[in-house]
Amino acid sequence: MNNAEVVDALSNYQDAYYPNGIPDSVISLCELQGSTLDLKLSIGFPLGDKKEQFIESIKQSVLSLQAISSVSLTIDETVQPHLTQNNLPSLHRIKNIIAVASGKGGVGKSTVSVNLAIALGQLGARVGILDADIYGPSQSKMLNIAESTRPEFIDDKRFKPIEAYGIQSMSMGYMVTENTPMVWRGPMVSGALMQLLNQCTWNDLDYLIVDMPPGTGDIQLTLAQQVPVAGSVIVTTPQEIALLDAKKGIEMFAKTGIPVLGLVENMALHTCSKCGHQEAIFGEGGGQGLSERYQVPLLGSLPLSPKTREGMDTGMPPVAIDPDGELAETFREMARKVCALLSQRPINQKETTAQTIATDA
Ligand SMILES: Nc1ncnc2c1ncn2[C@@H]1O[C@H](COP(=O)(O)OP(=O)(O)O)[C@@H](O)[C@H]1O
Ligand SMILES: [Mg+2]
Repeated sequence: MNNAEVVDALSNYQDAYYPNGIPDSVISLCELQGSTLDLKLSIGFPLGDKKEQFIESIKQSVLSLQAISSVSLTIDETVQPHLTQNNLPSLHRIKNIIAVASGKGGVGKSTVSVNLAIALGQLGARVGILDADIYGPSQSKMLNIAESTRPEFIDDKRFKPIEAYGIQSMSMGYMVTENTPMVWRGPMVSGALMQLLNQCTWNDLDYLIVDMPPGTGDIQLTLAQQVPVAGSVIVTTPQEIALLDAKKGIEMFAKTGIPVLGLVENMALHTCSKCGHQEAIFGEGGGQGLSERYQVPLLGSLPLSPKTREGMDTGMPPVAIDPDGELAETFREMARKVCALLSQRPINQKETTAQTIATDA
């Protein structure tokens, strides 16, 4: 047996993170001496509490090769910046921007963004969240940030993100009060988004989650043209109409060259709080169908749950409040899958040297 045969065996390994095998690019060391294998995998995404299980699973698959009797395996989870649309350089201090979007409002984009971001933080990644809903920001409420909280300014241009539940956050909601009228013209909205992104001194992020407003307006256009986005996640509910909108979302990203990393089906099953009976109130299999039709992975299905609604409305995201619960585990698994898929995209070699890129405000 030689090293090449081990590499070949790893290319046939399969799990939720490597559905098509472990690619060569992940193997940074593979040395067989006698029957002992020295293996190093640079996976480039955080496994969190699944690390031991992953190591065990890889070891078992390698040890099933007859010629190998022992293996020493190290895993490097360091996140790399990945290719963006039109090969835009990635931003200094932000390795990867991931947009969370849908065609329709009210499907749970913000809920998914916040809980996904917190879940990523729990896995050990450095995470930020940018509320791109300039007209109707919702992050301050969902993250329980007091209404009077304002970002700390470093100088007259730069300000610090606000930390909550282990993640860094920035939102128009921190800049204006509830009584400030939100009358923005298109160019101003774009400028506001770019300022929130660029003038915020993000503290070395592996991932910045951008919580998008619904539809395909100015903010989406700005994001597609000016913001280096490494990937996107589409949120949908099983209702037919929402699915039609999800298709629009997928097609919009396809047009702009931003890869759709996966779909999240929200409010899929309802569990009766009295009898535990589960029912697909809005119909079944929609997310799966959409996933097959567009060849986009289904990252997970989230239940319709009163606890989620209450938690989000009171600034207590379920993933943060009940990190050992089933929902938190579902979100962490979705987070691992998104990052694993992103890690298998090409690396972005370009980075802006400046702290910020130009804004057209
Ligand atoms: N899985 C869920 N179960 C119950 N309520 C949910 C769920 N996901 C979202 N919600 C609720 O639905 C409403 C809309 O969610 P939100 O995340 O603000 O949607 P969007 O950002 O897409 O407009 C909120 O009140 C939220 O608490
Ligand atoms: Mg929202």
